[in-house]
Amino acid sequence: MAKDLPWLESNLEPIWTWGKRTAKTWSHIYNPFGPWTCLKLIALKFHSDLYTTIMNKQMGRLGFDSIVYVDVLAGSGLNQIRDTGSWVAGSSVVACLAPRKKKYDYILAIENDANYSSALAKRLGNLREPDTYDVVPYDATMHIDTIENLLQKRRAHYVAFVDYEGMSGFPWVNMEKLLGHRGDLFITFIPNIGRVWDRNWEKDRPAVAELVGEDVAYSVEDREGLFPAYLQKIKRSRPYTVDIKIRSGSGYQYMLIFAAGQTTKSKPKWFGAVETLKEKLESLDGDDVVQVLEYFEGRRPKLTNGRWRF
Ligand SMILES: C[S@@+](CC[C@H](N)C(=O)[O-])C[C@H]1O[C@@H](n2cnc3c(N)ncnc32)[C@H](O)[C@@H]1O
Repeated sequence: MAKDLPWLESNLEPIWTWGKRTAKTWSHIYNPFGPWTCLKLIALKFHSDLYTTIMNKQMGRLGFDSIVYVDVLAGSGLNQIRDTGSWVAGSSVVACLAPRKKKYDYILAIENDANYSSALAKRLGNLREPDTYDVVPYDATMHIDTIENLLQKRRAHYVAFVDYEGMSGFPWVNMEKLLGHRGDLFITFIPNIGRVWDRNWEKDRPAVAELVGEDVAYSVEDREGLFPAYLQKIKRSRPYTVDIKIRSGSGYQYMLIFAAGQTTKSKPKWFGAVETLKEKLESLDGDDVVQVLEYFEGRRPKLTNGRWRF
C-alpha cells in the first residue's frame, strides 16, 4: 500500500493536540520516545473509538455490565518525541479521549515509576470522575489479581495495552490469565528480547522463558523463531489476531500484536477495520511521523490537495 500521509496527519493530529493539553500539567514529567511510538498510539486511538462505539450497543446482550481499559505498563500519560520535541498524549490519555460516542467505564493503569505514576494520576484526574479510574504505582508483575478482580467485579469486557519497554514487567503467567478473560489486547512484542537471546547466556534463558513461556523459549532455534512461536501461542486462544510491523525508518522495528477477544462465535465487528489499519501503519514509518509533526509544529509546508509539498 502507498503511504497515506493525509491519513497519518488526520490520525496523529488529535494525539498531538491532546499531548499539548496534557503538558499543561507537570510538563517536567514525561516519557521520551522515538517518533514511531506515535504509530502504536494511532492504533490504540483508532481501535478505542470503534470498539467503544460498537461494544456499547452489544454489551448488555453479551452479558457484560461495563467496558474497561487496562494499561499494564502505562507510562506517565505524556510522551515527548525526541526528534521534534513534540508532545503527544500517552496511552492512558489516548484511551480517555479517543472514544467519541461512549467512554470506557473504567480505566486501570499500572506504572511502577513513582514520578510517572503520580503524574499519570494527576492527568487522569483532569479527565475523569474520581471513581472511574485508578493508577496502581507498583510492579505490574504483582498485579494480575488487581486486574482480574476489577474485571470480575465490574463484569467487564476489556481492552488491554501491554507495552513492554524491556525484558520485564508482565510475565507470561500473567498474560495467560489475562487472555483467559474476554477482551482485546495490544501487545508490543518485547523490545530487546532478540538481543538478549543472541547473547545466549544460559542465565538469560529463564528471563526469556518468564516473558514468552517455557514452551516457546526452549523450543525455538534462534531469535527469528521467537516471534512466530509467541504469535502462534497467542493465536491458539485468540484466532482473530493481527500482527503489525512498526518501523522506525532507520532499521529498527518491532511488532505490535492485536488480539481480538471474541464476543460471539463470529469475528468481532471491528476486526476488519484493524486489518485495514495494519496496511496503513505498515506503509508508514518514524520518518513519516517526523515530517507530519514538523508540519504541526509549523516547521514544514502545508498540505495541498491531499498531497505533501517538499
Ligand atoms: C513503553 S513505556 C509505556 C508507554 C505508554 N504505554 C505510552 O504509549 O504512552 C513502559 C512503561 O512501563 C513502566 N514499567 C516498566 N516495568 C514496569 C513494571 N514491572 N511494572 C509497572 N510498570 C513498569 C516504565 O516505567 C514505562 O513508563
